[in-house]
Amino acid sequence: MSAATRDSCNNSTDPIFENLRGAFVEQFGHERKPSVLARAPGRVNLIGGHTDYNDGFVLPTTVDRAVYVALRPRTDERVRLHSQNFGEEVEYALSKPHVSSLPQWAQYVAGVAEELRTKCGLDAGFEGVLFGNVPLGAGLSSSAALEVAAAEGLTRLFGIDLGAEEMALLCQQVEHTYVGVQCGVMDQMATRLGRAGNVLSLDCRTLDYEHVPLPLSEASIVIADSQVSRELADSKYNERLAECEEGVTFFQQFDDSIKALRDVSSELFEAHASELSETTKRRCRHVITENRRVKKSVQALQAEDLETFGALMSAAHSSIRDDYEVSIPELDHLVATAENTEGVYGARMTGAGFGGCVVCLAANSALEPLQQRLSQQYEDQFGLEPALYVVEENLEVMTLH
Ligand code: GLA
Repeated sequence: MSAATRDSCNNSTDPIFENLRGAFVEQFGHERKPSVLARAPGRVNLIGGHTDYNDGFVLPTTVDRAVYVALRPRTDERVRLHSQNFGEEVEYALSKPHVSSLPQWAQYVAGVAEELRTKCGLDAGFEGVLFGNVPLGAGLSSSAALEVAAAEGLTRLFGIDLGAEEMALLCQQVEHTYVGVQCGVMDQMATRLGRAGNVLSLDCRTLDYEHVPLPLSEASIVIADSQVSRELADSKYNERLAECEEGVTFFQQFDDSIKALRDVSSELFEAHASELSETTKRRCRHVITENRRVKKSVQALQAEDLETFGALMSAAHSSIRDDYEVSIPELDHLVATAENTEGVYGARMTGAGFGGCVVCLAANSALEPLQQRLSQQYEDQFGLEPALYVVEENLEVMTLH
C-alpha cells in the first residue's frame, strides 16, 4: 500500500470523512475537532471458504463500503464513543472497559483499545464518532472493518507503531477474546491490506501475501445479500473448526508433521478417507480441494482467464454446500440463478455461511439481466428482496490527521 493512500493529509476525496468531522463536532462541541480520521473497508472473499483457520489460502478483495472513525485524545482515562448508525453513546474508564457489558458495536472498539492498552502501552482516554456503511451481518466483514478502522485510528492518534500483520492479528484476537468467534485471520488481513483493483492472495499460515490484479475491464463483481441474518453462524463456525481439528488429529497418526488440514495431501486423504466418519471426511475434503482451487484461481487471474476463475468459484460453492454444509437454500438459489444467467462466469456463497451474501463474477453486459433475475426469482421463491451491490471500487485503508 502506498504511503500516499494511507497517509494523505486532509485531502481525501471520500465525502464521508467530511460528514464524520461534522458529526464529531456536533457530538463533542465546537472546541473539540477530531485529531484523526480513519476508514477501513469491508471485504468479499472470491474463493477460499473456511480455509483460513486451516492454515490455508484465500483470495479476498475489498468492497466500496467501509467503517469510519473520528478520534480525539483526552487528558484523562475516559473513553467516550458515539455510533452514528445506532444513535448510541457509551462511556467507560480505559483501564476498566467491562467489554461484555457494552453494546456490540462498542465491544469491537473497546476490545481493540484493550489489546492496545495491554500490549502496546495505550494509556490515555479518547473520544470518537463511528459510522459504517458495510451491511451488518451480511458476511462482508463489517466487524473486521470496524476493528481495523479503530486500530488504524488509535495507533495513529497515540503514535503506536504497529505493522499491518501485527494489526490484523491484534484485531483477530479481539474476535477470539471478546466476541467468542475463533475466526481465521483473512478478514482483518484483507481489510488492512486490500489494494484498489487487486485481490489479496494470502497464505493464512505464513501471512505471506501478493496483490493480484483483477482483470475487470469488462466484468464486475456483484454481491447479492440474501437478507438472511447469520444467526447460526457463530456456533456452527466453532463446530466446523472442531470438526477440522478432528481431521488433523486423525491424519497426524500417519505423519506427525501435519499441523493443519493444509498439510494433508490429496494422496494421503484419498488413501484414508474411508476410515473417517462421513462428516469428518466431507469437512476435510472441502478444505483440501478448496486450497487447490484457490491456487488455480490465482493462476487463472494472472492469465486473465475469467472463464476458468468463474468455474472454480462455482465448484467452490458446490463443495461448501455439499461437503462443508454451511450454505442454506437461499444462498444456493441465488448462486443457481446467477449461474443460469448468460454472461455470468461463476458464483458462490461468501463469508461464514448460514445467511449473508453470494458473490458473482459477471460480464458487464450481463449486469442488468443478472440483477433483474436475482431480484425477481429470489422474491418469487422466498418472498424476500435481495440487496444487490455492484462493487465499483476496492477501497483501501486510509488515515487522515
Ligand atoms: C468468516 C471468518 C473468516 C473466514 C470466513 C469463512 O468470515 O471471520 O475468518 O473463516 O468466515 O471463509
